[in-house]
Amino acid sequence: TWTMAGFREMEIARIRQQVGKGRVICGLSGGVDSSVAAVLIHQAIGDQLTCIFVDPGILRAGEADEVIRTFRDRFNIHLIHRDASDLFLNALEGVSDPEIKRKTIGRLFIEVFEEEAAKLGGAEFLAQGTLYPDVIESVSFTGGPSVTIKSHHNVGGLPERMKMKLVEPLRELFKDEVRELGREMDIPEAIVGRHPFPGPGLAIRIPGAITREKLDLLRRVDSIFLEEIRSAGLYDAIWQAFAVLLPVRTVGVMGDGRTYDYACALRAVTSTDGMTADIYPFDMSFLNRVAGRIVNEVRGVNRVTYDITSKPPGTIEWE
Ligand code: XMP
Repeated sequence: TWTMAGFREMEIARIRQQVGKGRVICGLSGGVDSSVAAVLIHQAIGDQLTCIFVDPGILRAGEADEVIRTFRDRFNIHLIHRDASDLFLNALEGVSDPEIKRKTIGRLFIEVFEEEAAKLGGAEFLAQGTLYPDVIESVSFTGGPSVTIKSHHNVGGLPERMKMKLVEPLRELFKDEVRELGREMDIPEAIVGRHPFPGPGLAIRIPGAITREKLDLLRRVDSIFLEEIRSAGLYDAIWQAFAVLLPVRTVGVMGDGRTYDYACALRAVTSTDGMTADIYPFDMSFLNRVAGRIVNEVRGVNRVTYDITSKPPGTIEWE
């Protein structure tokens, strides 16, 4: 009978067989897929693996630290941490078109990754946390027969350019199986059970041009929302939950004064694969509490809305 422990043993053998004494590099994003791939490959070949974590400056609060703590300190994986926030944020300055944001971010991830790989003296193998659905979706990410709704940059491009062979130990698995494999290897629940997070990160959760100030506001709003979701025990019932900082200021009242600050939207959906989604039906009292905390704790945001659009016709992200 097929078991996850058996699969793990088999993949470890397969990785050793494929890689031999070669060197493997792996881009770590902090997401479930690359994390599980990295730990599995590390179990197979130890220090022949080097992970490269490019911090693009558009991650949520505390994420970069968590990646470093987990992989370097807990798993003893050789990890290169490159803080590329200035590079990314400068390149994104004034960019408001969502697809140009995606392309700019995708291109920079590749450039910085290549730079760091070159500093290592290159490697024969590139590891990727490609899943079975990625293999299918990479053909085109479509909402209809031929219309590309949003471009993805998870798959493709890099290995051909870098002339590296691919190590993709997860390419036969679905997301829930990857999570199970991660638990089997004692990867912390905070990583294994984590909601999907898009490669372009917070950049596509700030409609219009992004700035450091807006990123800072969004991080604080988003943290409060997720903190309340976790403490209400709702995290695992939700596919994705996040805040969006809207490019609009509205009038409010605070104490004796008038405010003129940003509005934000909260989004939480249930889904099985991200292709369709329903809104999560929070209790009004929950939303009330979250809105109260956001407006009181985040100076600069004075209005909170809840997005009640399902997918289709909406998409999960706002851009
Ligand atoms: P949408 O917004 O298209 O999102 O309904 C469906 C799923 O895909 C994620 N998403 C992305 N992931 N790069 C990614 O890696 C992207 O450019 C991107 N755009 C959307 C989104 O978070 C959701 O899980």
